[in-house]
Formats: sequence, structure tokens, C-alpha cells
Amino acid sequence: MLVHTIAEVREKVKEWKKQGLTIGLVPTMGALHSGHLSLIKKSVEKCDKTVVSVFVNPIQFCPGEDLDKYPRTLEADEQLCNGAGVDIVFAPSPAEMYPDAQMLSNDFLTYIIPPFFYVNKLCGKSRVGHFDGVCTVVNKLFNIVQPDYAFFGEKDRQQLIILRKMVKDLNIPVEIIPCPIVREESGLALSSRNKYLSENDKINALALSKILFNIKACYNNGITDVDALTETAYSYLNTCHNLEYLEFRDADNLEEKQTADNNTVVFIALKIGNVRLIDNIALS
Ligand code: PAJ
Repeated sequence: MLVHTIAEVREKVKEWKKQGLTIGLVPTMGALHSGHLSLIKKSVEKCDKTVVSVFVNPIQFCPGEDLDKYPRTLEADEQLCNGAGVDIVFAPSPAEMYPDAQMLSNDFLTYIIPPFFYVNKLCGKSRVGHFDGVCTVVNKLFNIVQPDYAFFGEKDRQQLIILRKMVKDLNIPVEIIPCPIVREESGLALSSRNKYLSENDKINALALSKILFNIKACYNNGITDVDALTETAYSYLNTCHNLEYLEFRDADNLEEKQTADNNTVVFIALKIGNVRLIDNIALS
């Protein structure tokens, strides 16, 4: 069932709560692929009712990013959700979510600002304000849907860690369920932004997963020195790649690691042309 207004969602949620049913929420920006579908399937399996939100959230895009050209495929998204047993596809307009016309100005919206320590690194460094926008919209979605469980992909692991922190710090009554990264057979992590890649770009994009898999293999062979592990990455990079970061960080609090251990995650971001791609791997 496709729903565009908050009022309609609230009505359904009220009914479900009265019946004592559990609710799962899968927040997305649409252009759904098998990565999203894995979250949806988990929710349908675990919860009595599943809501998938499809909303390209303007306040998490920085100036100059791809807000206008971000793929919007609502009809196909709805079909995929219906096929997977989703109860509500919630696709609000920007005006429904941010009714004040001045919404893009910080002065006219109450924001959730995650701790500086969590956002001054990795994607937060180049995407200033991005995680404020993510936390704010996810908090709004939590208030609208009041889910028992919310499903997020490890593909965006910094986002997952920050949202987990938000839920803990603000005592939000929802359990966050992390879901593993879904990859193409080639190793490339699925992403709505892969649509921007040409065939040749896609071949170059394999560097991300190759670097991560190789680092994990080296770690499994006993190498724990981060400098030595980082060195192994460079042979996969060519002039098409603009490496933004390759970092080893703690899986819970994102602290930097000098020596890799089983609680380390390796994060990578690079640009191919104008397309920015991210990936990560847990060494455990
Ligand atoms: P979006 O990029 O559409 O992703 C929605 C969810 O799908 C996120 O939790 C993301 O981590 C997960 N996901 C995407 N690709 C995946 C893959 N290959 N494997 C597993 N999970 C994958 O992330 C957002 O939207 C937004 O920031 C949002 C949380 C909806 C807030 O606007």
C-alpha cells in the first residue's frame, strides 16, 4: 500500500499497536536494489508489519551533491516492496516532511546533531552536515512510524554507528538491526549510485572491494600493522581513482587503530570521475 501522508501512516500504526503487532521500519531513499531488499526481507521475516520509507532527504545532501539527479523510481520501488510483503510504502513529499518553506535553512528546523567525534572523520569530513540531516530525518521517521525494529545496512557503517549512538543517547525505544553488505558477484557493493557508473567505471570500481578483501586476507595471515596493511592497497589504484580515505577504525566508536584487531573495520571512499563510492569490511 503506497501512502504519501504522515496522517495515513499514523492511522495504520495506531491500528497495529492496538492489535499488539510488532512494526519494522526500513528507511531508504528509493531506487531500490537487492541490498535494500535484504533489509526488507529481514524486516518482513522478523516483524508482523513492515513499513519501507522512500524519501530522498534534501537536508542530508551537501551543496553541489547529487540531490537533483538522485535516481527516483517510485513505481518500481513499490512493485518490489509489494512482492516482498511490505505493508506500507511511505513516500512523502519534501513539503510533507518539512512543511516550513524555509526548511533548508538551519534556523527553521530542529536538528539532531550527532557527536563531533563521530562525524569529524570518514564521510563526515567531506560531507559536512550530512549526518545531521540523516539523524534528523531518521528521528522523524521513528516518531512517525514508532517501529519496534529498524533495519540499516552495514554498507553505510558510519551511518549505522551514528544512528545506534543516537538511539542510545536519546533513549529511543527502537532496536537497530544491522544487515550485512550485499555485493555483486564481482565484489562491488550494491548502491543506488552505481547507476552513475559506465561499464568502464564499474571495472575501476572493483578496486574498492579488492583492496578490502586483500587487506582482510593479509590480516588473516597475521599482519596487524596498519601501515603495512595500507601499503597493500596501492597496487590496486590507478589514475582513474581519487582516493578520499582508507582508514582502520574501531567498530563501535570509530576510534583510529594503529594495530588491527578483531574489532577493526576498514573503511574506504574513492571517487571515479564525479561518482563517490564507499565500502568497508570488518576484520573479525
Ligand atoms: P539508502 O542509501 O537508500 O540506503 C537505505 C538502506 O539500505 C541503508 O541502511 C543502507 O545501508 C542500506 N543499503 C544500501 N546498499 C546496501 C547494500 N549493498 N547492502 C546492504 N545494505 C545496503 O542510507 C540511506 O538511504 C539514507 O541515509 C537514509 C538512512 C534512508 C536516511 O535518509
